[in-house]
Amino acid sequence: MPPERRATLLVKNIGQLITMAGPVPRRGDQMKELGLIVDSGVAVAGEEILAVGESDEVEGRAPLSESCTVIDAAGAVVTPGLIDPHTHPVFSMTREKEFEMRTQGKSYMEIAQSGGGIRSSVRDLRTTSPSVLRTETGKHLDRLLRHGVTTIEAKSGYGLSTESEIKQLEIIREMNRSHPLDLVPTFLGAHEVPDEYCDRREDYVDLVVNEMIPAVIREDLAEFSDIFCEEGVFDIEQSRRIQQAAARAGLKLKFHADELKSTGGAELAASLNAVSADHLVHISDSGINALARSGTVAVLLPGTTFSLGGKQYAPARKLIESGVVVALSTDCNPGSSFTESLPFILSLAAVQMKLTAAEALTAVTVNAACAIDRGGTIGQLVEGLPGDLVIWDMADYRELPYHYAVNLALTVIKRGKVVANN
Ligand code: NIG
Ligand code: FE
Repeated sequence: MPPERRATLLVKNIGQLITMAGPVPRRGDQMKELGLIVDSGVAVAGEEILAVGESDEVEGRAPLSESCTVIDAAGAVVTPGLIDPHTHPVFSMTREKEFEMRTQGKSYMEIAQSGGGIRSSVRDLRTTSPSVLRTETGKHLDRLLRHGVTTIEAKSGYGLSTESEIKQLEIIREMNRSHPLDLVPTFLGAHEVPDEYCDRREDYVDLVVNEMIPAVIREDLAEFSDIFCEEGVFDIEQSRRIQQAAARAGLKLKFHADELKSTGGAELAASLNAVSADHLVHISDSGINALARSGTVAVLLPGTTFSLGGKQYAPARKLIESGVVVALSTDCNPGSSFTESLPFILSLAAVQMKLTAAEALTAVTVNAACAIDRGGTIGQLVEGLPGDLVIWDMADYRELPYHYAVNLALTVIKRGKVVANN
């Protein structure tokens, strides 16, 4: 037996192993399929999964290498490493003052229009050194990892000048190399119009199209292009223009769409074959139909509604029942959703959007992988895929949304190595 086919890590005595084996993506009732195996084990050889199955079967199929790490899960739940497909992790300034203004009655848009919001984060990021930004970003990534996340999508969008957008994307690239998490980079130059372009917004669209996108491509700094398509930020025509230019340059598309008002963002995303359309609190029926007919994944961000004190959550049940591919994410950012806890998002999805635990788990594994164009390559525990998995301090997976606001991730394993032990 060649050494690479011997297990270097074995997790044994698993009570419930959620493999997520099965269709990719999962729509409708398929979202209930967990590929659950009781009394089971997972063996990893190097970085890849070697065997998954009932205890005797795995131990029979996977001879252990001499230095194999053996972890006794003692009947606990094991899932794939969670995937967070929408984050804004590169920032150092927090915005608790705005949070308190909102709890006292001001709206997100009122604060943004009076110079706060994204533009205040931009002013800060432009003058913050890369080393401070790296340290602070590292803290967000560490927390995500400790909560069971092994891959994230990470956006720029607090620079809003060619130089500062590149500064953020370079940090994402460096952190992808140095941190155990995998980071998938997204250019979000169209997150807001910066102060210096407030009276000439079209000139800013020109800058994104003519200067920023070519610079991002030249330096090979992003895989996706995203935009805040919203009334008062970038309208449908500006969004179309920017995203068409991005697609022509070779970037895949994502949208912040229909978050605060219904503007047809979902329809635009589907028509441009976007990989995902995110937020969708105010998606219209025609937007739902457009997504259901497309491959565009709906990424729902209930932490945003929670933290903005909103009453209305995205219509998750209607989306699922219409056949839309649904994923969930933290939207980790200093303004509208400051959390690194994807498990807490599962609790919100259950309580506020009426997802079952199985649907919510599908939304942060298989379907979240599709939301970053990694469908079938991560988010499942099947032979040959990366050994990204989490041991949870629970005997039943349904505890994940139920037991809320505490961290129940015991051990996080990334590509076959233990990277967090809580
Ligand atoms: O996804 N909606 C736009 N962008 C972020 C908020 C960013 C911020 O307020 O800093 C979001 O909610
Ligand atoms: Fe966002």
